[in-house]
Amino acid sequence: MTTPSSATAAHGGASAAADATDRPAVPESTAPATAVVPETVAPAAAPDAVALTPPDLAERAAALDAADPLAHYRDRFAPSPGLVAYLDGNSLGRPLRATRDRLAGFVDDVWASRLIRAWDEGWMDAPTELGDAIGRVTLGAAAGQTVVADSTTVMLYKLARAAVGARPGRDEIVADTENFPTDRFVLEGIAAERGMTIRWIRPDPALGVTADDVAGVVSERTALVLLSHVAFRSAFIADMPAITRVVHDAGGLVLWDLCHSVGAVPVELDACGVDLAVGCTYKFLGGGPGAPAFGYVARELQAGLRQPVQGWMGAADPFAMGPAYEPAPGIRRFISGTPPVVGMLALRDMLALLEETGMPAVRAKSVALTRFVIEAADQHLSPHGVRVASPRDAAVRGSHVTLEHPRFREVTALLWRWGVVPDFRPPAGMRIGLSPLSTSFTEVARGLALVAEALRDPGAAPRQ
Ligand SMILES: Cc1ncc(COP(=O)(O)O)c(C=O)c1O
Repeated sequence: MTTPSSATAAHGGASAAADATDRPAVPESTAPATAVVPETVAPAAAPDAVALTPPDLAERAAALDAADPLAHYRDRFAPSPGLVAYLDGNSLGRPLRATRDRLAGFVDDVWASRLIRAWDEGWMDAPTELGDAIGRVTLGAAAGQTVVADSTTVMLYKLARAAVGARPGRDEIVADTENFPTDRFVLEGIAAERGMTIRWIRPDPALGVTADDVAGVVSERTALVLLSHVAFRSAFIADMPAITRVVHDAGGLVLWDLCHSVGAVPVELDACGVDLAVGCTYKFLGGGPGAPAFGYVARELQAGLRQPVQGWMGAADPFAMGPAYEPAPGIRRFISGTPPVVGMLALRDMLALLEETGMPAVRAKSVALTRFVIEAADQHLSPHGVRVASPRDAAVRGSHVTLEHPRFREVTALLWRWGVVPDFRPPAGMRIGLSPLSTSFTEVARGLALVAEALRDPGAAPRQ
């Protein structure tokens, strides 16, 4: 039986203290509020975040907000009652007001009015149309190489399995021990299925995988290297161009997990010569809980890859209903079943917003926010024993900052009840996720002030 603490640890939520029942597995994207705060834990009367914010921090935050060219975009997001600071947009993005209207209108205006005809009027092409938009706005990917489908986990499996199938005679996969669990688990499944060996890189947990690390393990036996571009714990940004080159020099294929990059850290997949990539749309792309993943397959590889979940929607003519599977030409062959139309609705609004602002401006604000968190932590949280566990060099830091303290599991649970929402990652990490378009410096300052207060609060003492 799963114990409450092991369940919450596995789901990556905030609180083993706020335990109650065994719960079904909930992905990182949706884990926080619903998965780990039991219904019986009422919101606690939050301390006065404004009064508790140190004046120097409040002043600096106000000045940064006043100078922020993206500040007004915060008004585009739907309000969240009782929220003091949302510091988990790297897990589940906040909804846009435009999305509320789009979702509300969908039933009558589209589904009920067009019914099955809507498949021909846009739904069928949505996976590639939205894939192209993700590619154009956030990935540096030309059209025809990105598709929206499945969950990240399933898309990872499909692309990784297709990649090893395209390198017959090579029997090793390279991965790292700090990668997100699903990435490691999917590869272990493929290795077992194909009789392959995984060569594990063990990077410094506070940093991530370097090109030298990869060069040290790839060989003529390497079929595939799978890495995260932005590490989910430390936020370290891996050197995509250099690592991709190292893998290609060894004759292997590289698959990048972009879950913590897409929509916050610009990438240039085409320019880097990347083979394959996957990512989720519910973090910085605002697709909402359970929104589908995207997969990128470089155009020149598409014809030679055979994906393992060959369903009718990836067939050359889905409605031929013929006896044999013939894959569609191009990126459509990586689709398996019916496109998740409802799950793709919200994505359109966030992509439109990101296109309006442009990724360079989003990245600039992300860097400013993470820098602000590190400075504030050094000044106001280190006296409480908190240490920064993310890179201090902004060039290799994604859009979250991980802070460490032995009491952060309990502290995070208390913060949620106060309306401050970071997340907890075992053993002692609190991730401060900074979604550039929905987060203000003042909000962050108040959130961090309550982190300090929670560390002073005996209610957040560890349980014996
Ligand atoms: C880096 C990374 N990879 C993969 C996943 C899993 O994605 P999914 O639950 O959509 O399959 C996540 C989820 O948060 C993630 O952060």
